[in-house]
Amino acid sequence: MATNITWHYNLTYEERKAFRKQDGCTVWLTGLSASGKSTIACALEQLLLKKGIAAYRLDGDNIRFGLNKDLGFSEKDRNENIRRIAEVSRLFADSCCISLTSFISPYRDDRDKARELHKESGLKFIEVFVDVPLEVAEQRDPKGLYKKARQGVIKDFTGVSAPYEEPESPELHLRTDKLSVEQCAEQIFEYLKKEGLIN
Ligand code: PPS
Repeated sequence: MATNITWHYNLTYEERKAFRKQDGCTVWLTGLSASGKSTIACALEQLLLKKGIAAYRLDGDNIRFGLNKDLGFSEKDRNENIRRIAEVSRLFADSCCISLTSFISPYRDDRDKARELHKESGLKFIEVFVDVPLEVAEQRDPKGLYKKARQGVIKDFTGVSAPYEEPESPELHLRTDKLSVEQCAEQIFEYLKKEGLIN
């Protein structure tokens, strides 16, 4: 635990926004493995960048290769994973970037804490439930992980041997077995517009 530390400020968020001519926020995608979180985040990132809007993707697997390489999939490690991601995403949002996070983030309390953290900084947090029935996710199984989880090779696998707590009031609820990737990305894009976060 660090002691003798103090906050250091330069510009306020509003001053930075005036320079950058862009708002920041976090679009928090949550859902089962193979629900489509990363695919939608990729499509949305491209949509935003092509329109000249700064956006950056933080992705479950990728972050676990670096920043969170010390964490596994126990409840405690997932809590810490999401705590760190929430902090990093808040920094991106505070820098006037649209931060797109795609993590299973299975615990409601972790997502609520991430939302609270953004609220404390006056930053918008848009929770997107990337929803698909477990059977469909299991049929997709692009990485063969559900199969391994059913065989007991992978322990604590979300939806099989570890919980997923569905969002109760997400800003957006996307059924990825009914909508295309483009439709999902478009819906988030339109929501950002409606909220005045992008033009
Ligand atoms: S979490 O729950 O938010 O901390 O998980 P996350 O950081 O998003 O990482 C999920 C990706 O890790 C792979 N993987 C597992 N997922 C769930 N449960 C277990 N036990 C597990 N082991 C490995 C898997 O590729 C997840 O990626 P996605 O893109 O969600 O399929």
